[in-house]
Amino acid sequence: MHIYRTISEYKSYISQYRGRSTIGFVPTMGSLHEGHLSLVTQSKQANEITVASIFVNPLQFGPNEDYERYPRDEERDLSMLQRVGVEVVFIPNVGEMYPRPMQTRVSIVGISEILCGRSRPGHFAGVATVVMKLFHIIEPDFAYFGKKDLQQVALIERMVSDLNVPVTIVPCDTLREPDGLAMSSRNVYLSPSERQQATILHQALLGIETWMNQDENLTVLKLTQLIKQKIQTAPDAVIDYVEVLSYPDFQELTGLVAQARSFLVAVAVKFGSTRLIDNRVITFHKV
Ligand code: PAJ
Repeated sequence: MHIYRTISEYKSYISQYRGRSTIGFVPTMGSLHEGHLSLVTQSKQANEITVASIFVNPLQFGPNEDYERYPRDEERDLSMLQRVGVEVVFIPNVGEMYPRPMQTRVSIVGISEILCGRSRPGHFAGVATVVMKLFHIIEPDFAYFGKKDLQQVALIERMVSDLNVPVTIVPCDTLREPDGLAMSSRNVYLSPSERQQATILHQALLGIETWMNQDENLTVLKLTQLIKQKIQTAPDAVIDYVEVLSYPDFQELTGLVAQARSFLVAVAVKFGSTRLIDNRVITFHKV
């Protein structure tokens, strides 16, 4: 496994493969778990070379967020990447990525302002900017993103399409703990009691079919309320948002749930200072 900390070292290594081998790319902020590794596995199945990056991107953290305390463990991350057979790791420091104060932002209007964008102003411009920069540095053919962060996937897909970035985005399924909690680097912040309660996000999302089957006139408003009520059975859960939107266009939905062809339920819940997100897409196969 080759480890590069500078852009020029990475570029000079990869130049020998460019045009000859397909390059798959898995951007991460480190503190890796099996969810990250599942993206690597998918990249390895489809590409000759898989590049993973580890960079905790200051641009995407708000002033009162967890940039400083975001979990970092380089040694463990590198050994996990080695175990799954990553060929190249790009692991720059902040000075390498941002040698000067950044005056440029990539912002995707509309989709950046809803859901997590509403509670985290500037977050998605920070994500899009670093991902665009990483695409230019790594120059991958395919890039792998997890559907746990479905809004992020939609945003990157839109950016790549709007700006003709020559990369194909591959959305990957969410990996979960045995009790259903979506794997996340932030799960380590949870106290044992919060960790137990955190399964309520997935449980609430699993209730959707039952509620729909019990009431064929279920409205979007009612479904939103039912999910909120379920989440609030966890004593320490503080809901940031529960939203039902059309999918894949992320538009507001009203009226009966059954009238939507395909919809997204996205939730963000805080336990103490830890903010967790999860989502589900429900698609009806109408004949
Ligand atoms: P990070 O949170 O480290 O996640 C890196 C990638 O792993 C993202 O595409 C994310 O959706 C995916 N991922 C996280 N948890 C997952 C799970 N349980 N199952 C499957 N995939 C999962 O997302 C970021 O970093 C950053 O915003 C980044 C794109 C690297 C830009 O800084």
